[in-house]
Parts: sequence; C-alpha cells; structure tokens
Amino acid sequence: MNIVSKATAFFVLALVALLFVEPVSGRTKRASTEKLNNNSLGTQDLVTNLPGQPAADFKHYAGYVTVNETNGRALFYWFYEAASNPDGKPLVLWLNGGPGCSSVGYGATQEIGPFIVDTDGSGIKSNNYSWNKEANMLFLESPVGVGFSYSNTTRDYDNLGDEFTANDAYNFLHKWYLKFPTYRTRTFYISGESYAGKYVPELAELIYDKNNNPSLHIDIKGILLGNPETSDADDWRGLVDYAWSHAVISDETHKIIRESCDFDRNDTWSNKDCTLAVDEVLKQYKEIDIYSLYTSVCIGDTASSTDGSMQVMMKRTSTMMPRIMGGYDPCLDGYSKTFYNRPDVQKALHVSDGVRLKNWTICNKKIFEDWAYSKPSVLPIYKKLIAAGLRIWVYSGDTDGRVPVLSTRYSLSALGLPITKAWRPWYHEKQVSGWFQEYEGLTFATFRGAGHAVPCFKPSNSLALFTSFLLGDPLPTARV
Ligand SMILES: *[C@@H]1O[C@H](CO)[C@@H](O)[C@H](O)[C@H]1NC(C)=O
Ligand SMILES: *[C@@H]1O[C@H](CO)[C@@H](O)[C@H](O)[C@H]1NC(C)=O
Ligand SMILES: *[C@@H]1O[C@H](CO)[C@@H](O)[C@H](O)[C@H]1NC(C)=O
Ligand SMILES: *[C@@H]1O[C@H](CO)[C@@H](O)[C@H](O)[C@H]1NC(C)=O
Ligand SMILES: *[C@@H]1O[C@H](CO)[C@@H](O)[C@H](O)[C@H]1NC(C)=O
Ligand SMILES: *[C@@H]1O[C@H](CO)[C@@H](O)[C@H](O)[C@H]1NC(C)=O
Repeated sequence: MNIVSKATAFFVLALVALLFVEPVSGRTKRASTEKLNNNSLGTQDLVTNLPGQPAADFKHYAGYVTVNETNGRALFYWFYEAASNPDGKPLVLWLNGGPGCSSVGYGATQEIGPFIVDTDGSGIKSNNYSWNKEANMLFLESPVGVGFSYSNTTRDYDNLGDEFTANDAYNFLHKWYLKFPTYRTRTFYISGESYAGKYVPELAELIYDKNNNPSLHIDIKGILLGNPETSDADDWRGLVDYAWSHAVISDETHKIIRESCDFDRNDTWSNKDCTLAVDEVLKQYKEIDIYSLYTSVCIGDTASSTDGSMQVMMKRTSTMMPRIMGGYDPCLDGYSKTFYNRPDVQKALHVSDGVRLKNWTICNKKIFEDWAYSKPSVLPIYKKLIAAGLRIWVYSGDTDGRVPVLSTRYSLSALGLPITKAWRPWYHEKQVSGWFQEYEGLTFATFRGAGHAVPCFKPSNSLALFTSFLLGDPLPTARV
C-alpha cells in the first residue's frame, strides 16, 4: 500500500456513541436555610407549561447560563429537583458525549430523566425509574454548539475540545449556583457515558484543582461513568477483540489486526493492513447496531428522521486517535428532534420566544468532525482523583460493541489497582444483573444484556446501581 494514500486516507465512518457526564452540585452551608424563592434567579427558569408533560410532584427548571460574556457563549441546562426531599439529596450532573451529542436528547429524555420521549410521537411520558428519585438531576448541553447551547462568536466552534469543554462547564457550575444558591454547598457528583468518559474526569479534576481556593469550593464527592471512553489504545484493543469474540468479524481479520495494529503507537493508522482490517470491523458493525449487538436495527421507520449518515461515522486525523461518534437510539432520535423543535416546547423551556426558533439536533456532526483536542487517556486523572478520595464507579453494558466491556477491563487493568473484593454477581429482582469487582478506590460493575446507553435497556437495574453509588454501598449480593 502506498504511504501517501495511507496517510491521506481519512476514514469517515459513523458510529453512534453516547457520552454522558453529570456534574453534581452541592448545597452551601451558608445558604442551607434558604429556599428557592421568588428572589432566586432560578425562579425565572421554572418550567410551568411544558406541552404534554405528565403531572409531577417536583419542580423543574430550564434555560440558559452565560459562560463567557466576551464571546457570547451560553449553555442550556435542564434541572429536575428530586421527587422527594430535594433538600436532603445530592446534586448530580449528567453529561452525554459524542462529542457533539445532547444530554437533553439522550440522558434526560431517553435514559434517566423523569420525562421520556414517547414513541407514539405525541410528546413525553413519565419514567418510573428516573434518577431524580434519588438525586437532584442537572442535565447540561455541552459544549456550545450542542443542542440549544450556542456561541455568538462562530470561531469558538473551531476551537472546541476537551479543555474548552471542561472550562465552560466549570464556569457554568458557578454561574448556575448564582441562580440556585441553595445548591451551592450541596454534595455533588458528576456522571456520564460514552465520550463523557473523557468529560467527567476532566471536569472533576478541574473542580478538584480549583477547590484549592476556598471561595470556589465545590463539594465534589465522586464520579460515575457508563461505557466510558477512557484510554484510546485500550478502547481500540477492546473494540476489535470484542468484535472478534462476539462473532462479528472473522478469525482472519482479527489476526491481521493483531499483527498489524499497535494501538499504542501514533502511526498505527498509517499501516494500511491495519486500517483495512479495522475498516472491515466497522463495515460489519454498520450492518447491525454497534451500540446493542443483539437488538434489531431501526428499518424503514418513516417516523424517524434520524440522519442515517450519523450512525456509522469515524473521524481520523493525524494528531488524534480515530474517533467514532454516536448517540443511541436511531429509532427514537427522530421523535426528540420533532419535540424539541416545536415552538411551544422551546418557549416552555426558555430557549426561544416561540417565534425565532433555535434549530435543535440530537448530535452536531460538525462538532464531532472539527473536535480540536481529545485527551488520549484519562487514566492519570483517575489516579489523581482516587488519591484525593473521590468515589469512582464505572459500569458497562456488556452487549455494547462501541465502548465494550473489554475496553473498560483493559483500561482498568492498566491502572493496576489492588482488588479489595473479588469478582462476584450482583442481583436485582432476584436475577443476576451483572458482575462487579471492587478495587482500592474504584468499583467496576457490568450490566448483563445491556447496550451502550445502559438505562435505556435496564432502567430499573440502573436506578438500583445509581442508588448504591450515591450511598457508597456495595451492590446487592443476595438474590432477594
Ligand atoms: C412566587 O411567584 C409566583 C408566580 O409569580 C407566585 O404565584 C407565588 O405566590 C410567589 N411566591 C412567593 C413566596 O412570593
Ligand atoms: C472567553 O472566551 C475566550 C475564547 O475562548 C477566552 O479567550 C476568554 O478568556 C474567555 N473569557 C473569560 C472571562 O473567561
Ligand atoms: C447572543 O446574541 C444575541 C443577539 O444579539 C443576544 O440576544 C444574546 O444575549 C447573545 N448571547 C450571549 C450569551 O451573550
Ligand atoms: C409506572 O408506575 C405506575 C405506578 O406504580 C404503574 O401503574 C405503571 O404501570 C408503571 N409503568 C411502567 C412502564 O412500568
Ligand atoms: C509520534 O510519536 C513520535 C515518538 O514519540 C513523535 O516523535 C511524533 O511527533 C509523534 N507524531 C505525532 C503525529 O504525534
Ligand atoms: C438545522 O440544522 C440542520 C443541520 O445543521 C440543517 O440541515 C437544517 O437546514 C437546519 N434547519 C433550519 C431550519 O435552519
């Protein structure tokens, strides 16, 4: 193969990946007796007339927070107070990945929010397993360009990357606390999935570093990551090995990959044998749902306006590991798009005046393609956060081919943490929900039979894990 064509051949294959990162906010002692009242800025963001909203016994707020006045950058959030005793519950931020995908479109309305997009096209319905049963849930569309979030300075879109994203999310938190002062000192966690596997530790590290300044202190206690992109080399090794071990590719293709791809090297993608073989993996994954190996793909569903080109897209550049983009449910994405582009919905969420509408899409392909910087591995950040005493839980749906359980095991194995409790099953409703292993400073759990966006597949089990995480309790180890 000729080197020039290898070097210049950038593959663009689209795969849908979801990343969720949730930051959690804490409530300040100073403000602990304050209630959200009409003097709190947040009151202006109270959502009172969301079309089709089921009755709810909690308040929710949505709107913009300006994160950079000079350039005119504003991030959109949707915040659901806990369904009961919100004052006594922590604040949890949830982030989706992509990069370029919306935490509102995925996290809030397909996975763990109280109102889920309804496939009958009529709007939204209640989610019995919403995570706001256990915490105050904050969903952030990040960075600018994602969902309703925007910048008035178009060149900002050329500079988006991990650091940019973390800095704006950090500024967001402090500005958000000004709207919701009672949460300023509240115990805070960050959660997310897929590419948020990068966002979550990066934001946690920034918070941890800035906490040196007492006036900026945020009471961050831990992070929760689902099928997270973690270490590019380990993630790629896991992706190809999983494809082979789950009969998606042949022995021959796998052998070529093993012999020609060294994912630790930055020039492995200029090896034509390697790129052709990896291409074969992606080609097979285009035939099925890489995010959920054993469920059906959405075929000929005219109600879905999903852009098919998004479903298998990979971006390669000379400076970063190839990335695969995604968002889960190709069948549901179209409904979200219809819902969030409705004038009455945008007005109710304080996004637009209902006349000059914002153009909402679930993933922004341009952001994904133009991503300027991605940290190759966040494992060094894991080490730092573990040393700082933060709680770190990583879970993995074991039928995901995109960030498969093998990728996560390779990554965690590279950390070399001492095991404190050996591999064993955890139970939910009398069945084995998955397995888990506890390390010094980290808990790893699998979800048996769940795809990339675990809560879509195992909503009740996911809520159970979330509850254990918040309590810092081991997962249930008895069949009760
Ligand atoms: C806050 O404002 C709402 C709507 O404007 C009003 O119904 C409510 O009585 C006010 N509450 C207080 C405590 O002033
Ligand atoms: C606003 O954003 C610009 C461009 O990213 C940056 O140079 C500037 O420092 C930011 N301003 C503040 C106050 O953060
Ligand atoms: C962006 O520009 C619009 C139109 O001028 C303005 O209304 C809006 O407040 C600006 N946003 C920010 C965050 O400055
Ligand atoms: C949700 O909970 C309600 C009340 O317990 C129940 O009637 C309903 O069937 C549940 N819905 C689902 C989808 O489980
Ligand atoms: C690849 O790694 C080599 C050796 O570490 C380094 O000299 C080179 O600049 C790197 N190339 C790229 C494109 O990062
Ligand atoms: C909304 O954005 C999409 C994707 O960028 C574009 O194709 C479409 O034309 C836009 N629609 C409007 C009304 O601006």
